[in-house]
Amino acid sequence: EKGGYKHFMLKEIMDQPNAMRNCLRGRIYQPAEAPDRWEIKLGGLEKAKEGALNPQSPLERMANACRFIFAACGTSWHSGLIGKYAFEKLAGVRAEVEYASEFRYRKPLICDSDCLIAISQSGETADTLEAIKMAKEHKAAAPSIASVGSSFDPKAELPQALTIGVVNVVGSSIARETDCGMYLHAGPEIGVASTKAFTCQVIALLLMALRLGKQRGALSEEMLNMYCAALNAVPDSIEKWMSSLTEQTQVISKNLRLATNALFSGMGVHFPVALEGALKLKEISYIHAEGFPASEIRHGGITLIRNFVPVICIAMRSDPAYEQIKQMVRDFRHKGAALLVLTDDGNTDFAGVAHFTLCCPATKLEMQPLISCIPLQLLSYHIADMRGCSIDQPRNLAKSVTVE
Ligand code: M6R
Repeated sequence: EKGGYKHFMLKEIMDQPNAMRNCLRGRIYQPAEAPDRWEIKLGGLEKAKEGALNPQSPLERMANACRFIFAACGTSWHSGLIGKYAFEKLAGVRAEVEYASEFRYRKPLICDSDCLIAISQSGETADTLEAIKMAKEHKAAAPSIASVGSSFDPKAELPQALTIGVVNVVGSSIARETDCGMYLHAGPEIGVASTKAFTCQVIALLLMALRLGKQRGALSEEMLNMYCAALNAVPDSIEKWMSSLTEQTQVISKNLRLATNALFSGMGVHFPVALEGALKLKEISYIHAEGFPASEIRHGGITLIRNFVPVICIAMRSDPAYEQIKQMVRDFRHKGAALLVLTDDGNTDFAGVAHFTLCCPATKLEMQPLISCIPLQLLSYHIADMRGCSIDQPRNLAKSVTVE
C-alpha cells in the first residue's frame, strides 16, 4: 500500500507531481483550434445546485463578488493565505483568510455579495463546516451595500453568500453543504501530515484566481497565457528535481535533527510557506518551530536567534522584498544561526553566508510556493524519521478534527 516507501507521508510527498496533474487535468488546456491559447474550465463552478436561492451561475457570482472569505484550519488555512495573495494579485479582488475556529465564534459581517471558500482536505473538519453554516445563516444579518439606505427591510430574506468547497474527499460533509466547489483529485491522503492535499489546494485556488482574473478583466490574454503555461509546467519541474532534492534534504536533516527549536522565515507569498514548513516540522518531529515574516522578526523574535538555532529562510530572487530578505539573512548569520537558505536555481548570493543552500526550480512568483514547500516537507520528514518519530500518526493528532 505504501508503494515501497517507508511511510505514507513520503509516498504522498513523492506522489505530488501526479496529484497536481490530476488536479489540473481537464481544467487547464490549450484548445485544439487555438493551440497557442490557454483556457480554464471549472465544471463544479458553472451551474448553481438544484434548489439554490440564486439561479446565477457560481462563476458569475464570483466574478461580481465584493469579497472572498477563505475559511479553513491548519495546513488548509496556509493554502488560504496563498490563495489570498493570488486572488488579490491575479483577480484584483478583496480576499480575507479566517481560522474557521475563530470565525465561527465571532459575529462576522457577511453579505450576499460575499463568497465563502471553505478549504479542507477531509471535508469533515467541524469548525470549517460550522463556518459554512454561519455564512448561510447570516443571509439577512448584513445588508449588501446596494440595499443600505434604500428600502432595506432587515427582516426580508436576502440571497445568502455563495459558499464554495475546495475539498479532497468526494461526497464529504463540506462538499455536500456548500453551494458548489472543486474537488482536488489528489487521491487518498493517509499520513496525518497534509502534503499533496496542500499543494493541490493551492493549485485549485490558483485556477480560480486565473479564471476570475480573466472574467473580471484583471488579466490580459497574454498574461493569462503566461500564467497558465507556468502553472501547467510545475508538476514536471518538481518531478525532475525530486531525486536530487531527496539526497540534499537527507544530508541537511542529519545536521539539523538534534535541534530543539527552529525558525522559518519568508516574505509575501513565502510567508505562508514558512508557516507551513514550521507546522510540518513540529507536527511530525516534535521540534518546536515557528514561521514568521522575515522583517517582522525585528519586532521581538530576534531574541531567539543565537548560536546553532536553525533558521530556514526562503529567499527567491523574484520576491519583491528580496533585497531586504538578503539583508536579514546576513543578520541571522551574524547572530550565529545555523542557516539554511532556500533560493532559486543559479543564485550564488548566499555563498559564504548560508551553511546550507537548497536551489529550487524558478517559476512565476505566484506559483513558486508549489515548489518551495516541497523541500520543507522532505526536511521535516527526514528529520522526524531520524528522530524515530511516529510519522504517519503523530501523538495526540487526528487526521481530521471532527470535534469542536
Ligand atoms: O481536513 P482539513 O484540511 O480540514 O484539516 C485541517 C487541519 O486539521 C489539517 O490541515 C492539519 O493541520 C494537518 N494535520 C496539517 O498537516
